Amino acid sequence: MRVLAIETSCDETAVAVLKTDGAQFVMEQNLIASQIKDHAKYGGVVPEVAARRHVEVLYPLLMAARVSREGTGIDAIAVTAGPGLVPSLRIGVEAAKTLALLWNKPLIAVNHLEGHLYSAFLEAPMLASPRPMLLTLRQPVFPVLALLVSGGHTELILMRDHGQYELLGRTRDDAAGEAFDKIAKLLGLGYPGGPVVSKRAAQGNRKAIAFPRPMLDSDDLDMSFSGLKTAVSYYLQGRLPEQQQAEVNDICASFEQAVVEVLVAKTLRTAEQVSPKTILLTGGVSANTHLRMELAHRVRQRWPQMQLFFAPIQYTTDNAAMIALAGSFRAQAQQYVDPLVLEANPRLELVV
Ligand code: KG4
Ligand code: ZN
Repeated sequence: MRVLAIETSCDETAVAVLKTDGAQFVMEQNLIASQIKDHAKYGGVVPEVAARRHVEVLYPLLMAARVSREGTGIDAIAVTAGPGLVPSLRIGVEAAKTLALLWNKPLIAVNHLEGHLYSAFLEAPMLASPRPMLLTLRQPVFPVLALLVSGGHTELILMRDHGQYELLGRTRDDAAGEAFDKIAKLLGLGYPGGPVVSKRAAQGNRKAIAFPRPMLDSDDLDMSFSGLKTAVSYYLQGRLPEQQQAEVNDICASFEQAVVEVLVAKTLRTAEQVSPKTILLTGGVSANTHLRMELAHRVRQRWPQMQLFFAPIQYTTDNAAMIALAGSFRAQAQQYVDPLVLEANPRLELVV
């Protein structure tokens, strides 16, 4: 079957076409129109601007992906139904519903977080991979413990099988990616914050400033990152602008160290409790090199045999390939939704 996938949950408009017989997966198209430049001047994503851009680029993107106007060759349509920004989500959801009705094709509602989880089942493609591209899928041994870290979410999820999830821990306030973005804003480093903060951190001293490790020693599996932003902000208030500039690398390094320590410690604590067979790392923040290295090191030290799946870098941030892949598993299970009933849900839960 051939699945057309549409993703518009935040600030990337993405379209993918995946062909699969359940054993082989061929990514025929995987296109992303990023809006980062449109939002950079505001220092963050502006929902109305994002929605307008999705409207402008979705149709050209479908054309660029060579999707026929009649839907010929497409067997099912998968769309991100939530969570995300509602004005953004609606554009993709309404487009997918319309196409499903017009073409008389089954519709699959994919949870954005499920998409991120599935991206870690993909083998890293070779550079300059051809299109169409034969994907290699890593077979997870269940149960899988996933650390999902993105701009909107920071969650520890237990996956007992395909489509079976249990939420074990989450941030009580800001997501880890949000913390990176806010720190970058405080330091005048632009948007999005993650890539630039981690680049500066690599040149700084991780022990220079003792920022707090929120909830590191709490008994539960929840996390919190908003206090870190406040701590960095207080630190900056006590410094002259030239001192701040001289210390940017050390501030980034010390901040990144605090975030990574909390994420890794909470993942290990959760793993101690639930004894997973696979640990999976995914979401935009999983592109962070220090996080990857620390998690790999600590897991290897504690459980040398543990299967470790990290999302390939090119699939860490939002894309439609992951929605197509998750959607293809739902299609195999015939989990379709009624296009007349489906609605974008900004708070869609993975665990129901
Ligand atoms: O998964 P994603 O594209 O969007 C959401 O679903 O939220 O994640 C975007 C987030 C942003 O907050 C961005 O700053 C962060 O991922 N990010 C990083 C890195 N690259 C992107 N955070 C830390 N280190 C990075 N290298
Ligand atoms: Zn995402």
